[in-house]
Amino acid sequence: MTRHSDATAEELRAQFAGALGQGRTSEWLAAFADVPRELFVHSFYRQDQQGGWREVTVGDPAFLKTVYSNTALTTQLDERGIPTSSSSEPGLMLAMLDALRADTGHTVYELGTGTGYNAALLAWRLGSDNVVTVDVDPVLTQLARMRLSRAKLHPTVITGDGAEGHEDRAPYDRIIATAGLRCIPPALLSQARDGAIIVAPIGFGVAQVTVSGRGEAGGQFLSLPAHFMPRREPGKPPAFAELEAQEAERTEVPAEDVLDRLKFPLSLALPGYNSCSWRDDEGRLTGVGLWTADGSTASVHVEGKVRQTGPRRLWDAVEELAKHFPHGTPAREEFGLTITPAGQRVWYREPHGPSWELPPT
Ligand SMILES: C[S@@+](CC[C@H](N)C(=O)[O-])C[C@H]1O[C@@H](n2cnc3c(N)ncnc32)[C@H](O)[C@@H]1O
Repeated sequence: MTRHSDATAEELRAQFAGALGQGRTSEWLAAFADVPRELFVHSFYRQDQQGGWREVTVGDPAFLKTVYSNTALTTQLDERGIPTSSSSEPGLMLAMLDALRADTGHTVYELGTGTGYNAALLAWRLGSDNVVTVDVDPVLTQLARMRLSRAKLHPTVITGDGAEGHEDRAPYDRIIATAGLRCIPPALLSQARDGAIIVAPIGFGVAQVTVSGRGEAGGQFLSLPAHFMPRREPGKPPAFAELEAQEAERTEVPAEDVLDRLKFPLSLALPGYNSCSWRDDEGRLTGVGLWTADGSTASVHVEGKVRQTGPRRLWDAVEELAKHFPHGTPAREEFGLTITPAGQRVWYREPHGPSWELPPT
C-alpha cells in the first residue's frame, strides 16, 4: 500500500475516488478519478484553534493528502477573514451530482463556479459544450477559465449573478447550485426545460425538484446536511446595539436549539438568516444572536431572556417552529418543496402539513 507522504497525485486520486465510491455505484466516480482536484485548488486556508487562517500551498507536506480527502477546502477569504469561496466536500458534490441524474446529451447550468472543479467534473462527463457555469466574482471566473483550459475542458464560464441564469443557452435539462439559496431563483425556473431536475442548497439542506410546467416544480430534500456559502447579495448588518434599548422578554425555547436541533428547519422558516454565539471564558454558551438581511435582529441569553428589533421578530419565528418540533431533530428528507406560479412553499411530511413560504427571490 502506498504511504500518503510519498504517493503521487495520480495514486492519491485513485484512492480518493475509490473511497468516495465505497458502497455506491455512480457514473461520476470516473470523473473524480480522472480530474485533478489540485489543478483547481492551488492553495487553501486552514483555521487554527484561535480562529486565525493559515494558507496551505503545494509545498506543504499535507497539501496533496488534504486535497484528496473528503474535505471542503476554503479557497478565498474576504478582507475580514470571512470565507467567500471554497471547493465543496467531495462526498457532498458526488451526492448532488447523483441527485442531478444527468446523462449524455443533457445541458447543465451551474450557479457558483468557485474553483471550477465541479464544472470540470460536469464537462468531463457531459462535454464542455453542454455546461454553463456562473460566478459573481470576476477573479474566480478568470482563474477557473484558465484552470479548466489547462485540464483541456472548455465549458462556458460567465461572470454575473448566477440567480439570473444565462438565457442565451436556455432551456437547460439540469440546474445545480453550489451556493446557498433562499429559494429556487425564478429566472432559473423559467430557463429550465419541462422535466428538468434542479438540485440546490436551500437553507442548510439540499432540495431536489423536478420542473413540471411553467413556474411549477416539486420535490424533496436530500437526507444530507449541507452548509454552503450563501449566494452573495447586499444585506444590512445585525443591529445588536439597538437591542440594548429593547425590553427583555422570556422564552422557554433553549438558546442552543437554534445552533443544533432546530438549525435546519429554521433555515427554511427564516431563509438566509445569520447567527452567532457568545461564550464565557470556559467556552460555555451564554447566548445566541440571529439576524436577517432586512436588519431584523434578535438575541437570546441561555437563561431565557430575549430581545428583538427590526421589521421581523425573529425569535417569534423560532418559538413558532419549536411548537412544530418540540423534541428531537426532524430529518431533512421529511421536508419537501412545492413551487407554483403563486410562490414556493417548503413543507414537513406532506404538502398539507406544517409549511413555510420561501421569499420570491
Ligand atoms: C461553495 S463555492 C462553489 C464551489 C464550486 N462549485 C467548486 O467546485 O469549486 C460557492 C461559490 O458561489 C459563488 N457565488 C456566491 N454568490 C453568487 C451569485 N449570486 N452568483 C453566482 N455565484 C455566486 C461564490 O463566489 C463561490 O465561489
